[in-house]
Amino acid sequence: EPLTVGIDIGGTKVMAGVVDGSGTVLAVEQRPTLGHDVQAVEDTIVDVVRGFATRYDVAAVGIGAAGFVDATRSVVMFSPHLEWRREPLRARVADRLRVPVVVDNDANAAALAESRFGAGRGHRFVLCVTLGTGIGGALVLDQRVYRGANGMAGEFGHMQVVPQGHRCECGNRGCWEQYASGNALVRDAREMVRANSPMAHHLRALVDGDADALQGPQITEAAREGDPLSIELIGDVGTWLGVGLAGLTAAFDPHCIIIGGGLSAAGDLLVVPTRQAFARSLTGRGHRAEPLITAAELGPQAGFVGAADMARSAARRSRKVR
Ligand code: BGC
Ligand code: NA
Ligand code: ZN
Repeated sequence: EPLTVGIDIGGTKVMAGVVDGSGTVLAVEQRPTLGHDVQAVEDTIVDVVRGFATRYDVAAVGIGAAGFVDATRSVVMFSPHLEWRREPLRARVADRLRVPVVVDNDANAAALAESRFGAGRGHRFVLCVTLGTGIGGALVLDQRVYRGANGMAGEFGHMQVVPQGHRCECGNRGCWEQYASGNALVRDAREMVRANSPMAHHLRALVDGDADALQGPQITEAAREGDPLSIELIGDVGTWLGVGLAGLTAAFDPHCIIIGGGLSAAGDLLVVPTRQAFARSLTGRGHRAEPLITAAELGPQAGFVGAADMARSAARRSRKVR
């Protein structure tokens, strides 16, 4: 089985790795996404792959991108978090690297990895959400990502949950990801710090009063250490998450729901309130089997492991055609 490189491009960071056919990660590399510069993102991808290629025989490259990817898995049509508009990422990267390249949505890639190698193993219908800059989503049926008519299914984060609610980067208001993502958590925590709330004394001390400096992992860490506000804010995210997942379960009836992305590092601090809200809002509760709700197993590596796996299938297919 050939080695492939998977690259996960999120709103704040690029994570990449060399992965073998069993999902084992042989090397990892992390870079900042460098603002919103399309060319810089492309250069970073090329640079990272060239670096790996000096040490490994790279047969193909898979890219999981935080955006809406077309049905041919070549073009990023739109991204709420990056500047991609009809960006032919696959062709650009393949021209420079001269290996087969496949592009897919970042959450689709993560969901595939979790279904094959992680928390979804053994489950036929897996629904996955990744909580980071936004909410990524995917539905995996018998280890195949459900793509919809145009490749863009699974954008659960942009379902409206609050009419006239928070502005979303997608241009709408009240999207689910404005209430149940890493960004939502950070926004609320910063607001509390800024408001000089006595509840926020622990968080304020962590950043010397500079609300803008506060980052997601600090809030998770504070919650673990017992900070009541941080626990409450993560719980609020879990509540929004659970209600939304109940809606998705009404629609799709999955066997298993996996919560991934950076915020899933909060573990039970997030998952327990999620399960509670889910249990209170699922339609038909008490008269149906309920999905298992669980944190992702592959952590921050899921996206690139899944992207590498997609590249492997693409490489196999392209060989057969030739
Ligand atoms: C984007 C998705 C992406 C998700 C996580 C959402 O806002 O619309 O395409 O998968 O964020 O990065
Ligand atoms: Na998706
Ligand atoms: Zn939106």
